Amino acid sequence: MVMAKTDIKNISKEKLSALLYDWHNLNVLRNQNHDITYFIDQVKQYNSKNILVVGAGTGRVSIPLSEISNVTSMDIDKGRLDRLLRKKPGMKVINMDICVFSSSDKFDLIILPYNTFLNIETEKIISCMLSVSKVLSEEGMCLLDVSTSFNFKDKSDWKEFTTAPSTELGLEVTEFQKIERGPEQLIIYKNYVDSQGRKLLLTEEKYHYYDKEYLRNSIESGLLKIKKIDIGYGDEYTKHRLIYKCQK
Ligand SMILES: C[S@@+](CC[C@H](N)C(=O)[O-])C[C@H]1O[C@@H](n2cnc3c(N)ncnc32)[C@H](O)[C@@H]1O
Repeated sequence: MVMAKTDIKNISKEKLSALLYDWHNLNVLRNQNHDITYFIDQVKQYNSKNILVVGAGTGRVSIPLSEISNVTSMDIDKGRLDRLLRKKPGMKVINMDICVFSSSDKFDLIILPYNTFLNIETEKIISCMLSVSKVLSEEGMCLLDVSTSFNFKDKSDWKEFTTAPSTELGLEVTEFQKIERGPEQLIIYKNYVDSQGRKLLLTEEKYHYYDKEYLRNSIESGLLKIKKIDIGYGDEYTKHRLIYKCQK
């Protein structure tokens, strides 16, 4: 999908943030998409008819799933969902914090892809899991995809990460990263600048470290049970990822 060129002077922070989020996925994460094939298999295996993707971002996972089933994309970030809708107009989106979500709709598959679970603050995790549980159908399956790699990431001062063009901005973009280790969470700062060193955006992301007991307690606090844990998406590169499969 080709996006129209965007004038940096007229772009809102929300829109720029979503654009650079996709730029990061493409150039830093190198468009890793192993999880998409995995989730497509899960949808087929469970014959899921009504799916909720929590933390859908700009639709990296939820758009391909919507090709084979009925998908609702939820995210707390409006700019990301707006960008998702520009990629796939008409898709059902909910701009909300999962921790306060409730609905009379029931979903037979709820996915928290690519570390969304680890993004939720410790003090909100029980509300998050209760919200998930309330909208999960009786036989439904919830998939929590977490990474164990944040536990081992070292703290670092600002480091230049990647330089690549943004065709949408018509600029060369460089991403710098700084990593801090809090007691419970890893904090990743990203600073995006153009080739003349002009600041484009500074972001901050927090990821809870992987902790087996924390996960188990959180899941059980939502009245769910762990049925199985898949190690990675079935390829050799993603064995540091764990996909918790939970049911009522
Ligand atoms: C690590 S990103 C994964 C995004 C996307 N699924 C992907 O794989 O590219 C996590 C997403 O969860 C969203 N998020 C974080 N906390 C949330 C919450 N409490 N409710 C809903 N979405 C949330 C963030 O805005 C972000 O887009």
